[in-house]
Amino acid sequence: MIKKLSFLKRYLIFKLKAKHKNGHGIHSPFIYNFLTEIIENENENFYSFFEIEKLRFDLLKSKKKIKVKDFGAGSKKNFSSKWRKISDITKYSSQSSRFGKLLFRIVNEFKPKTILEIGTSFGIGTSYLAKVNSKNKIFTLEGCEEIINIAKKNFEILKLKNIYIKKGVFSKTIPEVLKEIKFLDFVFFDGNHRKKQTLEYFNICLKKSHEKSIFIFDDIHWSKEMEEAWEKIKENKKVKVSLDLFFIGIIFFRKNLQKQNYVINF
Ligand SMILES: C[S@@+](CC[C@H](N)C(=O)[O-])C[C@H]1O[C@@H](n2cnc3c(N)ncnc32)[C@H](O)[C@@H]1O
Repeated sequence: MIKKLSFLKRYLIFKLKAKHKNGHGIHSPFIYNFLTEIIENENENFYSFFEIEKLRFDLLKSKKKIKVKDFGAGSKKNFSSKWRKISDITKYSSQSSRFGKLLFRIVNEFKPKTILEIGTSFGIGTSYLAKVNSKNKIFTLEGCEEIINIAKKNFEILKLKNIYIKKGVFSKTIPEVLKEIKFLDFVFFDGNHRKKQTLEYFNICLKKSHEKSIFIFDDIHWSKEMEEAWEKIKENKKVKVSLDLFFIGIIFFRKNLQKQNYVINF
């Protein structure tokens, strides 16, 4: 109950700060176009959206239980496991339709070739990232084997062949993936919503970032410590512009942008 109230309080504070509807008050042409033509362009529909949402619908109907590792509370070595319904995992862990579609639009616009997703779950977000272009390479990381098995089936149903899943704890799999690739064009941070770990993953990914990289963080207001992590990320010298959409935060590194943090009413 207290957790819910604090979340509500954070949401109300966000709502009081949020502005820039229809690009109002934004002077940078790049950010203005990004906001009006990509973020707010919610009427555009693609056939892939229908396919992915149909898959979500089927997962939400499944009463089957699987044994999942709990990375949130477990210690580094001995993660506890618990039985959970597929429908519940889909409901509580998968990317929402609204933000999945936004990920798709961003990838469609900026055409990143190498994409990393930290936290696969059943692959709803991954599918939105991968459906844009079969030539893109999507690396996605997940620690729970039972979850990976379902994600793999989902990618088969959606005929997605450009996804590379790495199994294991992020502290191991992130450095492994980064060894395999030269640059990170796009990173979606969506697992282990704790301050220390989020900042660790951010700092290590920064080493492979470039001027046109885009990093997106999920649940930046989920807890006080995630808000602290988001503050630290915004402060980083390499980060030029940050956009706070409450449920996600987006950062750009482009050198021609003036350092600025926007809170967007989305
Ligand atoms: C929020 S879900 C990802 C949702 C997914 N990105 C989507 O868009 O549908 C986070 C996933 O990260 C996994 N995870 C969390 N902490 C982890 C860790 N330290 N190592 C490996 N996997 C982890 C969880 O098992 C969970 O499936």
